[in-house]
Amino acid sequence: MMKHLLLSLCCLGASLAPQAYAHGEHDHDEKPLTPPWQDASSWPDRIVTTIPEAPQTSFAVTWRTDDDVSSAVAQIVEATDAARFDAGAEIVLGETEALDLVDVPIAQEIWKADWNEGLAPVHYHSVIFRDLKPDTVYAYRVRGGEGNWSEWFQIRTAAEDGPVKFIYVGDAQNGVLSHWSRLIRAAYSTAPDSRFILHAGDLVNNGARDIEWASWFKAVGFIHGMLPAIPVAGNHEYRRYKLNGEESDRLLSMMWRPQFTLPEAPGLPDDLQEAAYDIRYSDDIHIFILSTQNEKIQAQADWLDEQLARSDAKWKILSMHHPIFSSGSDRDTPELRDVLLPVIQKHKVDLVLQGHDHTYARGAMSQTPERISYTDAGGDVDIMFVNSVSGPKQYDFKDTGWDDYADTGVQLQRRAENTQFFQIITIDGDTLTYEARTALNNLYDDFVMTKGEDGNKTITRGAQSTMDERMFDSSEPYVKGGLD
Ligand SMILES: [Fe+2]
Repeated sequence: MMKHLLLSLCCLGASLAPQAYAHGEHDHDEKPLTPPWQDASSWPDRIVTTIPEAPQTSFAVTWRTDDDVSSAVAQIVEATDAARFDAGAEIVLGETEALDLVDVPIAQEIWKADWNEGLAPVHYHSVIFRDLKPDTVYAYRVRGGEGNWSEWFQIRTAAEDGPVKFIYVGDAQNGVLSHWSRLIRAAYSTAPDSRFILHAGDLVNNGARDIEWASWFKAVGFIHGMLPAIPVAGNHEYRRYKLNGEESDRLLSMMWRPQFTLPEAPGLPDDLQEAAYDIRYSDDIHIFILSTQNEKIQAQADWLDEQLARSDAKWKILSMHHPIFSSGSDRDTPELRDVLLPVIQKHKVDLVLQGHDHTYARGAMSQTPERISYTDAGGDVDIMFVNSVSGPKQYDFKDTGWDDYADTGVQLQRRAENTQFFQIITIDGDTLTYEARTALNNLYDDFVMTKGEDGNKTITRGAQSTMDERMFDSSEPYVKGGLD
């Protein structure tokens, strides 16, 4: 929600051409038809919680209205079993930010955001609730125009310690409402006691296009009113803008910061604020987020190195969009690997959660040179890397698997094509349990990692999944295209 200047950025890594979105039939001279759930009104919508400050004592909520609503008003109360739990709710005020969806101020210029033609300016509102009790359920609601309140949402603050379960998903990106909705709803249905959902980038195909965010928020529904989002910016959240036919470099979409209230990261430049950040979720868990489409990879690597060195959390988890080890055919980001892998190795980051390649890949770096196969019961592990995908766009897996990266010591242990996944990760003291599940909630991949007093980790349980490997030639037919 901070109003940082958008600075010029160069692109990194491969980009994908945005697909056409059918707005409905219309003449070129007329305003495109928009579905009623896209249009802003005096009622709050696109409600999303986040954790920009200490999750034990605070959380943020961000929502949208039309531009007639000029103030950010919310209410909060500790939830009880009483039918009128809301008696005694406190009013909390926040910030309102105007967003023009068409004319985007970039430095001193006004640039055009493609595809939003005809859409009225909107207001994004955010409130940070503070001074809350840890591990406590609160009820809150947010207001649009006078008397136009959202429903009450319940949300639990983080505990100081104890077990934490969370959901991680890779790219949604395409068919977000039509095809991704079932996956994210299956994830929530499977693990409603999760404490947050981490989205590893490319949440939508065109991060500056309002209809796609409308679809994302409709797909996710009330879920992020209850479980905070930890969003990672992918290459598709970076867009080019036009001025007099001239294209800008790729810039973080003008919609990103207004609609997600994210932590500040002192020490990082303005254009990385709310794109690279960290969240110390509990005594045990520290999460680090990078923005790999931003060209300042070295600055992020230096920042990450410093943050990791300073953190005394037992479990350190890194998430970024572009993978260190690519799994999509003809994809690789060696510049990222060269800069970031040494930092990841130096601090033995436990888990690296990524997206971008529209395939599933999980593999480990370990102290032992011999391969830890998927079915092995155990073995040492230093770092576990995952690439996953939650949306319907699916790519071919690299012919060579991760053999191209053998000199780093990484070993691919489980792979898939043609499958949407969500991951449930549970951290309880010395143990991290990981499960990759399909849209039908079938267990596809899993491991249990245990950390000893010396910080060394082992895989302590063999795979429980009985599913065969899913590749294009061994699964249902895949239809390319046709995704809105
Ligand atoms: Fe991507």
